[in-house]
Amino acid sequence: MHPTEVLANLARHQLVDGYPLVVDLEASEGVWIHDAVTSERYLDAFTCFASWPLGYNHPGFADEGFTATLDRAAKHNLSNADVYSAEMAQFVDAFATHATPEGFHHHFWVAGGALAVENSMKTAFDWKARKLGRDDYLADCSDLSILHFKQAFHGRSGYTMSVTNTLPDKVGLFPKFKWPRVHNPACVFDLDGAVCNDVEAEEARACSEIEHVLRNDDGTHGHVAAILIEPMQGEGGDNHFRTEFLQALRTYANEFECLLLFDEVQTGFFGSGKPWLWQHHGVAPDVVSFGKKSQVCGMYAGSRVDEVEHNVFKTSSRINSTWGGNLVDMVRSRRFIEIIVQDRLMEQVRDLGEHVKTGMRRIACETGQFTSVRGLGSLLACTFENADRRNKVLQGLFERKAIALPCGETSLRFRLPMVMTTTEADELLDRFEAAVKAAAATAAV
Ligand SMILES: Cc1ncc(COP(=O)(O)O)c(C=O)c1O
Repeated sequence: MHPTEVLANLARHQLVDGYPLVVDLEASEGVWIHDAVTSERYLDAFTCFASWPLGYNHPGFADEGFTATLDRAAKHNLSNADVYSAEMAQFVDAFATHATPEGFHHHFWVAGGALAVENSMKTAFDWKARKLGRDDYLADCSDLSILHFKQAFHGRSGYTMSVTNTLPDKVGLFPKFKWPRVHNPACVFDLDGAVCNDVEAEEARACSEIEHVLRNDDGTHGHVAAILIEPMQGEGGDNHFRTEFLQALRTYANEFECLLLFDEVQTGFFGSGKPWLWQHHGVAPDVVSFGKKSQVCGMYAGSRVDEVEHNVFKTSSRINSTWGGNLVDMVRSRRFIEIIVQDRLMEQVRDLGEHVKTGMRRIACETGQFTSVRGLGSLLACTFENADRRNKVLQGLFERKAIALPCGETSLRFRLPMVMTTTEADELLDRFEAAVKAAAATAAV
């Protein structure tokens, strides 16, 4: 099909409301997305919504062993949960060795981030039900709930819609569970990177709401099976939390016998400069769900799950899906892991993040157009005065052939390829600065 026919052809059969370009998979390279229609190239600062870690056509993908394995895997589609292959075992071994932190021995694989989170919630429900002595599969468990946070995004599947509350268009008009939702005590940063809001007061408010729910003072909250949080809320606004707050959640989870679930679908798999963003805080959860950059989605879990003998990782059929992840994704994920380790990309992305943040802070100081520059590694953001200004900057960036993303009501986020060089980062900063100044100029007219 000729590239000029692609969008019209798709639009005949489905909603086509994405970017107005057609990705040339052969010509796109590194941080550059090549548009097959115009031959223009776009600087990639969105990485397919934080899901494409190493840019396009990475030279490491030319490895003959890798392409042969990929070819083999692509010609089959095994139901990995029930029939096993060397290709799968090699991936699991690479993931468990390089990505999974010490102390998490259970793994589960599935296709899609929402299902990864949903299965972590199921793990908690099963665990809590059995802790309450409910081993009969016919027992009523509708009093179990998941404590979660305002501005959370966990996906658009059955259970996850009840804990996602960023924008109403994502979950409105669908039936949901009324599970306890509490204040999210996010940090605001000054242009030196220091926290500049009264975050302790915010945390006190959140903790008071959490304690009210966990103590079930008014008898309306039933049994909380888990506290679920993104250690940094992405879609909801790149909201960072203090280590002290995550530690408080850890303590609550222990004290009130519920699991602590971290959703690292957006933040995990090396992009923050560590394998998992929670490791920057050193507060270990019980279960971590992942997806996006890891290609294969799923969760890893630690020993607290084993307090229940017949937990979901040991009992057949409690959590499962036909494909149990996808073999092609497994082969690609393993190659990503090898490249990230060999090329020391975790260290590189840490430096890249600091470089871009410094540039963003300079532009913020010079233009006065945005504040709260924040982030780690490839996951960076800043906040504008209002949504209109933020949207104009995003539009201006696109016109200047760079793609970034909104988050929250008035923030803009970069999701950078881990392979981005400082020269490419400077190019992004130049285009960003021009877009910020152009948006400010139109507002001044
Ligand atoms: C934190 C978080 N959790 C879950 C999801 C859902 O992942 P998916 O879109 O792959 O279902 C997302 C997607 O953006 C996410 O950012």
